[in-house]
Amino acid sequence: MKILVLGSGAREHAIILALRAEQERHEILCAPGNAGIARHATLVEVDPMNGSAVRAFADEHGVDLVVIGPEAPLVAGVADVVRGHGIPVFGPGRAAAQLEGSKAFAKRIMEAASVPTGRAMRASSAAEVDAAFDALGAPYVVKADGLAAGKGVIVTDDRAAALAHAEHYLPHGPVLIEEFLTGPEVSLFFLSDGDTVRALSPAQDFKRAFDGDEGPNTGGMGAYSPLPWLAEQFGSEAAFVDEVTRTVAMPVVKQLDAEGTPFIGLLYAGLILTPAGVRVIEFNARFGDPETQVVLPRLRTPLSRLLLAAATGTLEDQPQPVFTDDVAITVVLASEGYPEAPQTGRPIGGLAEAAAVEGVGIVHAATAAPDAPEGDLIATGGRVLNVVATGSDFADARARAYEAIGRIRLDGAHHRTDIAARVAE
Ligand code: AMP
Ligand code: GLY
Repeated sequence: MKILVLGSGAREHAIILALRAEQERHEILCAPGNAGIARHATLVEVDPMNGSAVRAFADEHGVDLVVIGPEAPLVAGVADVVRGHGIPVFGPGRAAAQLEGSKAFAKRIMEAASVPTGRAMRASSAAEVDAAFDALGAPYVVKADGLAAGKGVIVTDDRAAALAHAEHYLPHGPVLIEEFLTGPEVSLFFLSDGDTVRALSPAQDFKRAFDGDEGPNTGGMGAYSPLPWLAEQFGSEAAFVDEVTRTVAMPVVKQLDAEGTPFIGLLYAGLILTPAGVRVIEFNARFGDPETQVVLPRLRTPLSRLLLAAATGTLEDQPQPVFTDDVAITVVLASEGYPEAPQTGRPIGGLAEAAAVEGVGIVHAATAAPDAPEGDLIATGGRVLNVVATGSDFADARARAYEAIGRIRLDGAHHRTDIAARVAE
């Protein structure tokens, strides 16, 4: 197949590596990509935010499938333009992508579909925020409505800080005040063709910047999959996945279909396992980053087959995806100052030494090739690289991931040292 992947991060690199790992040889194009992706795909110059440009390119080059990685082009309606032209696209249209693009929309769909989620109140003024704080109590959870790259949410006992966060976003529209939920978090991905879903294996993301879940929220500092502790609560991973499919994914997909805005692409359910049961904290309309980096290396079913089936409405013909029993962990290497003010442009060394650790792969999030042919790669963003290690157990995979990350040189870089530490014990 000829596949065009849109995006430039570690998620897109991981998707491309999974496509490359298939027996079938694909021709893979990526726009805009990064220096790591350039080794596994042909980088092409198309603006991923411009639907007509993507459609024209796909048309001209006979692309069989367009895979949209990030949320911004989805919310901008790029999938609608390309799909409208008869080209298979993995990624929801603008309307269905509101599941991620608007927290208020997501809440409305969940209510309409009776999906279990935390109680929430909409507030349009400081006085309404105050009233919602009184009604729902501490800790306070405030969510901005639109896309905010992980920065829109605050969870705090500090009422003044929660109010200040709300007041920062109120000029842009109403905010959501949500009931505080407690329990382990799980990211569960569903491929959807608008009517049928296929679940992938669960993963856990580490969202806070520093060890021990301290510091600000980030896009994600590490992840692991599978989650062996799910079996204690649900009997098996499969029982958990079945429950979430039944109570969350199918009702949402049916609801969106009934509203005339079918969800074609990846439905990401962000869940908290509270003592009272599973609750949805958010939906995303695309593969999670960094969870994808640990889920896809464990996938044995050819990824391209699943993506194409979702894009062409034939997921029902596909068997359930198969995963290995191997475990995978990923640790993110971030630039100095990430997430608040990442320092970019610094040279990266030691990548070959890191990749030489057995069972380790290096996935690029924000790298660029230097102008001089012999120069080092440079870091171009906050999350720069992901070290991914697979193995038969977590202690072993962790040891190799951290051995590899220790070999990478990037001035001022930081990473968490406790990814999958608890599950490894
Ligand atoms: P979100 O962007 O909605 O995923 O929120 C980011 C993070 O904030 C989540 O991963 C949770 O750790 C936390 N969070 C969000 N909503 C709640 C909630 N209702 N109760 C507790 N923590 C939450
Ligand atoms: N890892 C969280 C996300 O992709 O939104």
